[in-house]
Amino acid sequence: MSDQIQKITVTIDGKTVQVDPGTTILNAARQIGGNIVPPAMCYYKPLKGSGGKCRTCLVEVSKGSEKDPRPMPKLVASCSTTVMDGMEVKNISSERVVDARKGVVEFLLINHPLDCPVCDQAGECSLQDLAFEHGADASRYEFKRREFDKIDIGDYIKLHMTRCILCYRCVYTANQLTPNREHGVLKRGDAAEIGTYIENSLDNDFIGNVIDVCPVGALTDKTFRFRSRVWYTKPMDASCSCDKCSGKAVLWMIGNEIARVTARKDQYGEVEEFICNTCRFDKKELTNWNIEGPRKINRHSVISTNHYEQAPPAHTTLLNKA
Ligand code: SF4
Ligand code: FES
Repeated sequence: MSDQIQKITVTIDGKTVQVDPGTTILNAARQIGGNIVPPAMCYYKPLKGSGGKCRTCLVEVSKGSEKDPRPMPKLVASCSTTVMDGMEVKNISSERVVDARKGVVEFLLINHPLDCPVCDQAGECSLQDLAFEHGADASRYEFKRREFDKIDIGDYIKLHMTRCILCYRCVYTANQLTPNREHGVLKRGDAAEIGTYIENSLDNDFIGNVIDVCPVGALTDKTFRFRSRVWYTKPMDASCSCDKCSGKAVLWMIGNEIARVTARKDQYGEVEEFICNTCRFDKKELTNWNIEGPRKINRHSVISTNHYEQAPPAHTTLLNKA
């Protein structure tokens, strides 16, 4: 019995939860769920070391712990601050947090182009959601914005550096999923950019996952770019037998055609199981896949404007064809 882990009690926006020691405030909030969960633009649970870069997840700690109830003087990043027993946290119930988040969004948007109408990420962009909830309707920034040429990263991936928010997720993905990392963040401050060392191609088996982890439209899939708005496609869970990855993916269908293949993501937009490049880029025939059924999409997502309660008749056709 002595091995039993002593749980820690934490209260977030008035809701109490018991979590394991070492849990971050963000993950404690995720265990409660709902709208008290702080947004996260750089933290990504499957990627070790992620978080602490973007400051969108700031929260107010109004009581430090049972032992030391003093509030923390500054807002803290919830993705990298661990809970203490008796801690009380304010997220959306704190005016300071709401105000700071507005500032962070304004900062993130300083260089971000307003090209949502032509950006492939529109409809599934974390920055778009964040700006919708916390953004101002006009920018106060008067200086020249950063400009970059679009870069081909290998045969399948395009980098729009102007859209990048320097969250480092793609760098961690390349570091942790592939044997050779050939890209990283070069330079510092407002000169920082994702670079590939003379545009070396990143051609290892799992590099396509950088597209899925990118919270904005900076890294896009060249096999899908400009083909369709995401809400005109129908996502289907599908699997295949693959010797490199789990083969579990989402097929984004236009009629009976596979427009793109992505990994499956959870409710926080984080990949459940990374998929290989062959599944993502090469298996675009229905005969490659076993269709499991329509992907459940959050009712509030713009993608659900094209939703269906049951598998559409086309699905039957897909199964017959497969
Ligand atoms: S390219 Fe995307 S994933 Fe990579 S640092 Fe920029 S925003 Fe993050
Ligand atoms: S998600 Fe916490 S700092 Fe970016």
